[in-house]
Amino acid sequence: MSRLIISYGVPLKGEVRISGAKNSVLPIMAASLLADSQSIIEEIPYLNDVRVMGDLINSLGASVNFSNTKTTISINPSEISNTTAPYELVNKMRASFLIMGPLLAKYGAAKIPLPGGCAIGSRPVDLHIKGFSAMGAEITQGHGYIEVKASSRLKGSKIYLDFPSVGATENIMMAAALSDGQTIIENAAIEPEIVDLATYLVTMGADIKGAGTDTIRINGVDRLHGANHTVIPDRIEAGTYMVAAAITGGDVKIDNVVPDHLKPVTAKLREAGVEVAEELTSVHVKAGDNIKAVDIKTHPYPGFPTDMQAQMTSLMTRAEGTSMVIETIFENRFMYVNELKRMGANIKIEGRSAIIEGNPTLLGAQVKATDLRAGAALVLAGLAAEGITEITDIEHIERGYVEIHNKLKSLGAKIVREE
Ligand code: EPZ
Repeated sequence: MSRLIISYGVPLKGEVRISGAKNSVLPIMAASLLADSQSIIEEIPYLNDVRVMGDLINSLGASVNFSNTKTTISINPSEISNTTAPYELVNKMRASFLIMGPLLAKYGAAKIPLPGGCAIGSRPVDLHIKGFSAMGAEITQGHGYIEVKASSRLKGSKIYLDFPSVGATENIMMAAALSDGQTIIENAAIEPEIVDLATYLVTMGADIKGAGTDTIRINGVDRLHGANHTVIPDRIEAGTYMVAAAITGGDVKIDNVVPDHLKPVTAKLREAGVEVAEELTSVHVKAGDNIKAVDIKTHPYPGFPTDMQAQMTSLMTRAEGTSMVIETIFENRFMYVNELKRMGANIKIEGRSAIIEGNPTLLGAQVKATDLRAGAALVLAGLAAEGITEITDIEHIERGYVEIHNKLKSLGAKIVREE
């Protein structure tokens, strides 16, 4: 079991480079299955989730190769011979469900273990299924699997998403790309990762308009060819390092970002008294010792991202005053709070709200990561705490953060990773 040990808080200083977006590369790897030739995806983050998606695509018969720098992946889907995903891989990563749309559209069938819930919520897939059945797929469920079949090509349809689900928007958009007729997705998710996926699909020959708005129009085409694509930078990794600079009273330049994607986090940090200078492809974050208490409410993009909720709560534990954090997207995304309280944080949970009484001193403790962003929040608290913080179960953290200990060490943090 690996762990991170953070000795004591120092103001972070220097420059850090952000990796490619995990939540962009995963749907893009799934979308490569739609093509009848090889794709090359660059600027990929070499994370466990990316390796699992690669294994999953391999298990279908496609060939997947990482470059020796591990930042480029080539995927050739021309030899796919199997449309059933193995339980042991899907069980590791819910995003495996994103191969359903491509397999259904291209091979007329897919059989995938129903992704279980995870630490943060039940994570249903009903909206994905609603889209596939609207396009003519037959759906059967049983023995923990969902099976979709289409006796003929999928037909374009108008689909209204009850909730602007990121995954459902992605899965339906991929299925619609290789179908007959027009599909309109209404109340679609508008996250930057949706736009990145649509850009890749269009490069493959898809006809998609409106990605990035709440209405996406897809005119199905007969075939899609492989394409080269460079993944957008990870806005959540970037936001996490912005908070790392803020919580340690540091001065950090964060390179390889799209400042526009960071707007909700930039706005909140400025409200908390943190200086954020936006440059073309970087942001420069400077903070003093006094952080102001601010209220946070998570919303679909361009609202404040749920994936940054835990990190901001960590920051608020050191703010002057009382702040309120409301989580509107997932039903159970405060598990890290108990761990923060073991470090001296003063937080009360009421349903989907957390009330935080800020105080300047956090004390290092032994804590464990319960999920990806919860783990990141504990790292941030450890960077600012007095004494030693030991974080176990860091495989959760390493699902979403490339080399987090080395990147933080390069900014002056006293952090080591131990097996
Ligand atoms: C994506 O998950 C991200 N994962 C999540 O990031 C992120 O938190 C989430 O979007 C919201 O931004 C990837 O992109 C791989 P949703 P996804 O479908 O697609 C409900 C991280 O930390 N819902 O937008 O699963 C669902 O219950 C991860 O990097 C349905 O009800 O999110 C939830 O309450 C965590 N029915 C809400 O929508 C459905 O069919 C948001 O889910 C689908 C979703």
